[in-house]
Amino acid sequence: MLPTIGRQSEVGNLIKRLDMTTKTKTSPAVQHDEPGLPSTAAVAADISSSVHRAAVRPLPLRCRNCGASCDPGPTAICVDCLGPLEPVYDVARALPDKKTIAARPPSLWRYREWLPFEGDAAIALDTGFTPLIDAPALARRLGVARVWVKNDAVSHPTLSFKDRVVAVAINAADAFGLKTFGCASTGNLANAVAAQARRAGLDSWVFIPHDLELGKVVGTAVYGVNLVRVQGTYDDVNRLCAQVADHFGWGIANVNLRSYYGEGSKTVAFEIAEQLGWRLPTAVVTPMAGGSLLTKLNKGFREFREAGLVAGSAPRLYGAQGDGCAPIVRLVERGDSTLVPEIPRTIAKSLAIGCPPDGIYAAQTIRETGGWAAAASDGEIVDGIRLLAEYVGVFTEPAGGVTVAAALSLARQGRLHPDDEVVLCITGNGLKTVEAVSSKLLETPVIAAKLREVSALVDAKAAAGRSNSGPEFT
Ligand SMILES: Cc1ncc(COP(=O)(O)O)c(C=O)c1O
Ligand SMILES: [Zn+2]
Repeated sequence: MLPTIGRQSEVGNLIKRLDMTTKTKTSPAVQHDEPGLPSTAAVAADISSSVHRAAVRPLPLRCRNCGASCDPGPTAICVDCLGPLEPVYDVARALPDKKTIAARPPSLWRYREWLPFEGDAAIALDTGFTPLIDAPALARRLGVARVWVKNDAVSHPTLSFKDRVVAVAINAADAFGLKTFGCASTGNLANAVAAQARRAGLDSWVFIPHDLELGKVVGTAVYGVNLVRVQGTYDDVNRLCAQVADHFGWGIANVNLRSYYGEGSKTVAFEIAEQLGWRLPTAVVTPMAGGSLLTKLNKGFREFREAGLVAGSAPRLYGAQGDGCAPIVRLVERGDSTLVPEIPRTIAKSLAIGCPPDGIYAAQTIRETGGWAAAASDGEIVDGIRLLAEYVGVFTEPAGGVTVAAALSLARQGRLHPDDEVVLCITGNGLKTVEAVSSKLLETPVIAAKLREVSALVDAKAAAGRSNSGPEFT
């Protein structure tokens, strides 16, 4: 049984209980010690001693609002103005050319000069470089020149783009000597943190809303981390984790390590540029939850243009959210600068952040690039998932359904143009969230292993006048 808690003091109690029952801090009872398996503490110690650690040095930080400088550290908020801190790159550093990058291993570390460290990373070296898939049928459907799908549904190791941000955050955690690595998550981040923490031999505490999809919960618990379900929304979980990070001194990927973590999302932009043959699309549609991915896509494209690796205008960025939790979309539509938080009610649970920390910056970025934003109802999300599956052969989770549905709606509004070359960011895998679509799919026949029963099905299909020529979507 996974614990479900409601308040921060309950985290302290849980830890005390675990200390008493297990003697060591690294083998709490909520982890899955089973007869016949080595204890989780033993596994962690084993891995820890075998993981080779090179010394990366995280870069110093600077406040995006007031410009105040800050030493490298597990801190994400400016003490002067509470603005977000960002890594400071040495503008005079040597940068690789296209050929050098192309000759490097196919992971996100091939762009290491744009990631927030000096020295070579030693952990999570095999994440990144997911496929960019040409999707001509979808292009026809959207009425644009080209469409590609950036398929992070097959990201290594946990099938979402959160593997990228975690690859960066865990190297920062390790460099700061933090022994516990955790997160507040809407699901995908939980999977990624759990997998990478265990592999690196770090203790891990993962906090999620109590009502996530089974695949997201099981896909975290299987790693034997301390998984805690919190009564409340993601925003409650996030507030709790801010207190937890301070109180216990843990590295929380998207809280006190957020300044480093966010930089991992830039690698989606770098890969798109390289995979298009060192050029940029004209438009990118991406899902938004906290709003970080969208702002980092823009930063990534800008950095590659500044480095002379790609030419031409910056792509217009389009943000997508579920209609039942669309505070950034509504901010873009209103055109003012005050984000109005929402209580989430959408099947796109991975995007259900009612008070997005980077929401204002995402809206600003959308306006600056000449893009726009769109929200998708639950029904449109399901249609979007099915359309991507049937047109492109990619099974996405609701976040990808939101992206496809938003692209259709933006095309209908005339915001995508006939000469546009569009990339759709598909950020997570549908196998984690089968409940989103399972009830909407046609009933599957069960037959005896007899040819005549197959013939009967084929005849029935022909009589109904339907072949598998393509989906009918509204
Ligand atoms: C599958 C998926 N796509 C997109 C996002 C949005 O990312 P961000 O919070 O950076 O806006 C998330 C966030 O959890 C996600 O899980
Ligand atoms: Zn500041």
